[in-house]
Amino acid sequence: MSEEHSAGEPVLRELDEHGVLLVTLNRPDKKNAFDDPQWDGLRDALNEAREDERVAVVLITGAGKDFSSGQDLAAFSAAADREDGNPNGFAGCVDAVFAFDKPIVAAARGVGVGGGCTLLFACDLVYVGESLRLRLPFVSLGLVPELASSYLLQRNIGSQRAAELFYTAEWIDAARAVEVGIAARVFPDDRLLEGALAKAREMAQWPVSSLRATKRCLMAAREEGVRRARAIEDELMAQQAGSPANVEAVTAFLQKRPPDFRKLRDG
Ligand code: COA
Repeated sequence: MSEEHSAGEPVLRELDEHGVLLVTLNRPDKKNAFDDPQWDGLRDALNEAREDERVAVVLITGAGKDFSSGQDLAAFSAAADREDGNPNGFAGCVDAVFAFDKPIVAAARGVGVGGGCTLLFACDLVYVGESLRLRLPFVSLGLVPELASSYLLQRNIGSQRAAELFYTAEWIDAARAVEVGIAARVFPDDRLLEGALAKAREMAQWPVSSLRATKRCLMAAREEGVRRARAIEDELMAQQAGSPANVEAVTAFLQKRPPDFRKLRDG
């Protein structure tokens, strides 16, 4: 594999001779939480891979023991545009994910929370390690689902199972992720990357034009649902972000204590 970026960057890229671009989220000391540079790094990796004819398949994974703990709560900011004119890190990356017209495979182990979980629903194929622990924490943060997950999860696993996961914010392990249809297969942690790479290479042997056309067919079936979900999620996220419940949840996380929402009800 040829490493195209230095190891200190928030997102690493390595293109192998088969046409598989390995994209690694690289903030392991923060469980690969997404701050703006990491969102931007993933956005750039996808946008550039889309134009690069050498790339047939993208494989996304996390450095260290985890996939990603989602939005960096210390850097949590409203979804306003940045001064440089680019959409904020999250929005620009999500645009790139849904515009990406070649197969995306994910290899996830350890923690996958928030955006570190919903990103998986937007991938074509998800392989997981035995240590996987997924959580959709949006209600516990006073927020709403994002990344079109309010549509994609229902579509992938059915409305009953999706409602249970969104409303309880309970943890899901690797076996349950496969059972409900969030993931294709579980590997032992130390075999995950090797197993996912083998599958990605199996795909990458075929003509890129056909992979791309096939992805476009698959995307067309969900396009309208994704568009509508993103619109309502963005609208309601903007309302909820910065609300008293959200401020209490984020403050509690940063202070390493459980949140207390009862005081907001007692009003
Ligand atoms: N944002 C910012 N920092 C985060 C983070 C996040 N989303 N997730 C983890 N971290 C940081 C922790 O603050 C900690 O930093 P420190 O070592 O400087 O104190 C470090 O990463 C390790 O995390 P820690 O909480 O100690 O690990 P854990 O195994 O006890 O718990 C989680 C792991 C994922 C359960 C817990 O970190 C968590 O709940 N994170 C928040 C997830 C979340 O709600 N994401 C937002 C989705 S919208």
